[in-house]
Amino acid sequence: MGQHIGILTSGGDCPGLNAAIRAVGKGGRDSYGMEVIGFLNGFRGLVQDRTVELNDEMLSGILTYGGTILGTSRDKPNRMPIGNKMRDMTDVIVDTYHRHHLDALVCVGGGGTQKNALLLKNAGLNVVTLPKTIDNDIAMTDISCGFDTAVSIAVEAIDRLHSTATSHNRIIVVEVMGHRAGWLALGAGTAGGADVILIPEIPYRIERVGQAIRDRTRKGKRFSIVVVAEGAMSRRDAKTIEKLAMQKHNGSKREREKASGRLRKFHEAHVGHTIQLTKQLEALTGQESRLTILGHLQRGGTPSAADRALATWLGTTCVRILAEEQYGVMLAVQGQQIKPIPLEEVAGKKKYVPPNHPLVESARLVGTYFGD
Ligand code: F6P
Repeated sequence: MGQHIGILTSGGDCPGLNAAIRAVGKGGRDSYGMEVIGFLNGFRGLVQDRTVELNDEMLSGILTYGGTILGTSRDKPNRMPIGNKMRDMTDVIVDTYHRHHLDALVCVGGGGTQKNALLLKNAGLNVVTLPKTIDNDIAMTDISCGFDTAVSIAVEAIDRLHSTATSHNRIIVVEVMGHRAGWLALGAGTAGGADVILIPEIPYRIERVGQAIRDRTRKGKRFSIVVVAEGAMSRRDAKTIEKLAMQKHNGSKREREKASGRLRKFHEAHVGHTIQLTKQLEALTGQESRLTILGHLQRGGTPSAADRALATWLGTTCVRILAEEQYGVMLAVQGQQIKPIPLEEVAGKKKYVPPNHPLVESARLVGTYFGD
């Protein structure tokens, strides 16, 4: 009798999730005789016991679809809004797992999902996770599903914005996602030939960005493309954040609470900071400036060939790991291999762009300015 496997997708959606579900479903069923069921809408599906059988009909034809056939949510097992209250639903999830006689649960998700999976592992469940996020910021893995597609979408947008920027001699600021990491901006900015790339890991000085654009104009380049990560910030803001983060970790209880609240407020207020940045650049350069925020476009639609292949590789490796009864791990891409990494080594950690990353160096060598 094959193993009983549950699978869910959790966190923000991204292209490639269906390819991963298909790989786990088909690979598990056809090659290992597993029974695979899907839970709907992330961890909430385990609470509500909402399932779907991943049979041939469900799994056929989904390789190329964006989004997730299982639905997703940002719900956490231990802090789930139920009615008007935040409740710890871990016990309910454990009950559902046993009611379905599951041997393991596969969670396809980002950084938050790794934490939630560890929590369920500590509650006694067998869990394996697959990394996905357009932000590419999950620790220990070189790459995550969805990143390649998001970079391609952003590059296509930058290509299109180039022609309108040149026609009007304008500065065009393009805000890309990425949460607090700069991978997406760095990848898309480099591939799209951005003149300026601003990422959170290299805080910028706005005067210097203005100066770099004025220098371009002096050399006869009458337009500029500025790719900005949603989490990018000025040096001054970065210093404030650093101080608050230290207080949050090292201060007294009162200081920690205060710092935590101020940090939350800063990040809330930082949403849409590129509106201000675009105005500042216009004022500093005297050049007409426009802003394009790509937003959720970067998460939608058909996955790239690379993401389909990556998801299939991760999903089929997952069923092998499940068959070997290796649990409590995330499957990480490291070089040419997929390795099972204990969830403890991934949960709560982030992978940021090292400021001296080879791609940063390459971009600098072709004249891209990083605002530092
Ligand atoms: O983590 C993926 C991501 O798209 C981030 O880049 C972005 O900050 C966030 O999710 C947006 O979240 P939501 O879709 O919940 O608004």
